[in-house]
Amino acid sequence: MCGIVGYTGKKQVDQILLDGLKTLEYRGYDSAGIAVLDNNKIKIIKKEGRVDRLIEETKISDTTGTCGIAHTRWATHGKPSDENSHPHFNHSKNFAVIHNGIIENYQSIKASLIDDGYIFSSETDSEVVAHLLERDFDGDLFNTVRNVAMQLEGAYAIAVVSTHEPDKIIAVRQETPMIIGVSQGENILASDLSAIVNHTNTFYRLDNGEMAVLTPSDTTAYNLDTGKRIVKEMLTIDWDISQAKRGGYDHFMRKEIAEQHEVIENALRGRLFDDGQVRLTELENIKDKLINARRIHLIACGTSYHAGLVGKYIIEDLLRISVETDVASEYRYRNPILTEEDVLVVISQSGETADTLAALRLAKERNAPVIGIVNSVNSSIAVECDSVIYLNAGPEIGVASTKAYISQLLVLNILALYLASIRDVKVEDITEIAKDLLSLNSLAKKLLSEDVVIKEIAEHIKDHNSCFFIGRLIDSAVALEGALKLKEISYIHAEAKEAGELKHGTLALVEKGTPIVSLMTEVSVSDKMYSNIMEVKARGGHIILLTNDQEATSELADDLIVIPKIHRYVTPVLSVIPLQLLSYYTAIIRGNDPDKPRNLAKSVTVE
Ligand code: F6R
Repeated sequence: MCGIVGYTGKKQVDQILLDGLKTLEYRGYDSAGIAVLDNNKIKIIKKEGRVDRLIEETKISDTTGTCGIAHTRWATHGKPSDENSHPHFNHSKNFAVIHNGIIENYQSIKASLIDDGYIFSSETDSEVVAHLLERDFDGDLFNTVRNVAMQLEGAYAIAVVSTHEPDKIIAVRQETPMIIGVSQGENILASDLSAIVNHTNTFYRLDNGEMAVLTPSDTTAYNLDTGKRIVKEMLTIDWDISQAKRGGYDHFMRKEIAEQHEVIENALRGRLFDDGQVRLTELENIKDKLINARRIHLIACGTSYHAGLVGKYIIEDLLRISVETDVASEYRYRNPILTEEDVLVVISQSGETADTLAALRLAKERNAPVIGIVNSVNSSIAVECDSVIYLNAGPEIGVASTKAYISQLLVLNILALYLASIRDVKVEDITEIAKDLLSLNSLAKKLLSEDVVIKEIAEHIKDHNSCFFIGRLIDSAVALEGALKLKEISYIHAEAKEAGELKHGTLALVEKGTPIVSLMTEVSVSDKMYSNIMEVKARGGHIILLTNDQEATSELADDLIVIPKIHRYVTPVLSVIPLQLLSYYTAIIRGNDPDKPRNLAKSVTVE
């Protein structure tokens, strides 16, 4: 939440900052702003709304300079407005600050600053930093930023520029991400790699309790507590900028859905072989613990949680070991039964989700081994886990997660097969599962090319206020994901229910024409599902049937989506694709921007 970027070098900084903000906009789009140093003055331009509004504003302003910082905001404290936008100034306008995170003790700091006569121009928690810098300035920018940071509680990635040392940026990180890109004659910082990959492929990652000083010729990291210099490991970005661009598609979401067949290959490569052998060298270090684990906890948020629900069905079914799946925001606070004999698996695309990170830390306190299923390389979750299985899906920019979900499903399948192999569980249909996993790439490609029918269905649901998704067993978990996708980008109320639960309440909401997306791929309960669909149909529900029954006809369905029949563990990878497309096209028809749904942001670094 919130994207930050900073640059110091020889080039004109305004365009670099604006380009950086464009790539980080998925982290928040309530407002955007830049601060540029020029002739011992700081110029701030900031605007409520999208980065494009800021770009228009900068066209009519003078933003000459080679050092600056910029911010795109997801509002937490204070509504979206010009005043609440970052960067924030102190009274004398010689410090400018950007902040991602929440300063939890800002109210007491603000009260003491007001007592000292400081006047606030925003409702944000972040503005306290600017005034603290002025109040506590001791003639040395680094010392002052450090002293100020030590007064802050909560989560923050902060960057400061000042007229006192005009080509310098000082950054501090506590809990929210900060990457430092290193180059010749210029250095750049950002919330994530997408904003620096244009400038350099060498970077280091600030960890909690660390600071960095950037000048055009140097960047040095320090420990916040001791103020001592530390040596950081230099890392290399191994994807190219084209992966973070739209590549001819109207939206990142559509591109990311289209990329899914490649994503399938990337998730399986080197991990699954034709004969059903699996290799997860990533887990060697905790193999003994996995062999003896009593229980597995799959913990995540949102779409990643929905992948975890599918994982529960697969792992329990295959291994007959108890699996608990929970949302991280509940799990972390409910004192779960979690011991060193359990294994925690955290699932996260961004690797930065605050609640998921907290669940990970809870497991470490309790000496339980932690596996991360993560997309963003070197993200906080990836770094703190005992072992990490990367999704290898490439950057996911659309706020609604699509390709990462598919990769998570695949990795969970591989994890289940790996656990079976090391725990000597015989999997009768192993070759069938492997064959189907390996055939997914071409099946997905074919499914993706048949989106005409989905566009028609989107026309049928676009004017409804409510839509229901029903299914049984694994289908019920995929139904949850279908409903989340639809609601978050089309703004149509969407609710998923286990089909057997319908008549315990939800059926009361079904009236003539209500769209009911009915997933029927679970053969063992298809008769039950058939009856549930008939019950809804009898109440006038408009049935959108998603099935792998190749004989299915429009007798049961008002709209029909037929997907290939493959092993039930693998089926969700295919069944979710039409649901993702359905949400995408419905959002488009309703005139929404699917990449930037209202009130949401990618990478939820606040709880
Ligand atoms: C929905 C969506 C979110 C994320 C959730 C967790 O489309 O993208 O529900 O899945 O915020 O994010 P990660 O996976 O980054 O931890």
